[in-house]
Amino acid sequence: MSIAFQLVHGDCFYELKTIPDNSIDTIFADPPYFLSNGGISVQSGKQVCVDKGDWGKGGTPEHIYNFNRKWLELCRPKLKDDGTIWISGTYHNIFVVQRCLQECGYKILNIITWQKTDPPPNLSCRYFNFSTELIIWARKSPKIPHKFNYDVMKELNGGKQMTDVWRLPAVGKWEKTCGKHPTQKPLRLLYRIILASTNKGGTILDPFAGSSTTGIAANLLERNFIGIEKEQEFVELSNRRFNELQDSEKRQKLLDNIKKNDSIATVLVNHARKELRELMIEKGICYLRAGDSKGSLQVTPGFERMKYVLLHTNGENCQMFKLKKEGTFQIWTKENLEKYGFSPEHSPYYIVLHFDNKPMEFLQTPSGLKQRMNTYKARLYPITSFI
Ligand SMILES: C[S@@+](CC[C@H](N)C(=O)[O-])C[C@H]1O[C@@H](n2cnc3c(N)ncnc32)[C@H](O)[C@@H]1O
Repeated sequence: MSIAFQLVHGDCFYELKTIPDNSIDTIFADPPYFLSNGGISVQSGKQVCVDKGDWGKGGTPEHIYNFNRKWLELCRPKLKDDGTIWISGTYHNIFVVQRCLQECGYKILNIITWQKTDPPPNLSCRYFNFSTELIIWARKSPKIPHKFNYDVMKELNGGKQMTDVWRLPAVGKWEKTCGKHPTQKPLRLLYRIILASTNKGGTILDPFAGSSTTGIAANLLERNFIGIEKEQEFVELSNRRFNELQDSEKRQKLLDNIKKNDSIATVLVNHARKELRELMIEKGICYLRAGDSKGSLQVTPGFERMKYVLLHTNGENCQMFKLKKEGTFQIWTKENLEKYGFSPEHSPYYIVLHFDNKPMEFLQTPSGLKQRMNTYKARLYPITSFI
């Protein structure tokens, strides 16, 4: 499957008209927030001005309304009938966007609160610290059902319904290796949005592409991207980011970083020979050697979020199970395991995990499971590696 990354240098009020109708699965738009008003904030410990550029300058309420009304009107026919649109903003623009969406005939589905886990401090100390952005999710048509990968979101959330509050860090240094955009969105945010509302091979449009975070996340997830950006400097930045994806090592590093999300569930992946794997499943017990032997599970960050165990034999017969209690293990003696019908041989103590022995559905196993397999090694993976 060949995946397109099409970035147009131009004004979206003109360029949107050139996109065929009913061709887009999802639109993500991060339009100007109109908050460049000379205020101050903190970045990397330094006081900085919040002004973003001429495109972000404050406007009259009428200008903000006309601007949003017009691009939202142009976008709607481009969506497929089951297509959806996501628009991010703050109080400066989001309520106007909500009104325009409704006037244009979209149906609002959710208002996501992106709670930044690492917001910069409020220097004036005259307000609560601003730590959120809002993202409105709406569908094209009030009547036609929209696409929503509910199960994928549920899995991402450790088997529980995902809520409309997303706790994610702001954009990290690792996503600014090609330079930075003043209002760059985190890849993790776009990754989730794209996973929620599109399938592989789908097409995502971003009319205010900036540094093309949407396009980079789309490409990593094997979706097509059409972006429109009017500033040459940001088109160049986008192209540098896209070129970076052609280096398979850098591409993998980005994916690993996105998936290394400190709020998502993890999976313990454990090899066991066939008879042992079957017995573990029958009893709902998975064990690893404890102590200094190479079989022990290193208690690495992410262990406390461990929700699943995946058992396999040499990379084959992968089955995933839900742990009875998240992030919890017991230490058992060899004798105790023997009472349950196991024949452990290598250690007096074992780490024991209890799981519900009804196998769960998952979409894929991480590549290299077989190659990296080592009889005595158990590894933690983020749940995103299986989606
Ligand atoms: C808030 S930023 C988007 C940042 C982007 N989400 C990212 O992660 O890099 C808005 C972008 O829209 C661009 N822009 C503003 N008005 C535009 C227009 N009429 N047509 C196309 N791009 C526009 C600005 O140059 C700016 O880069």
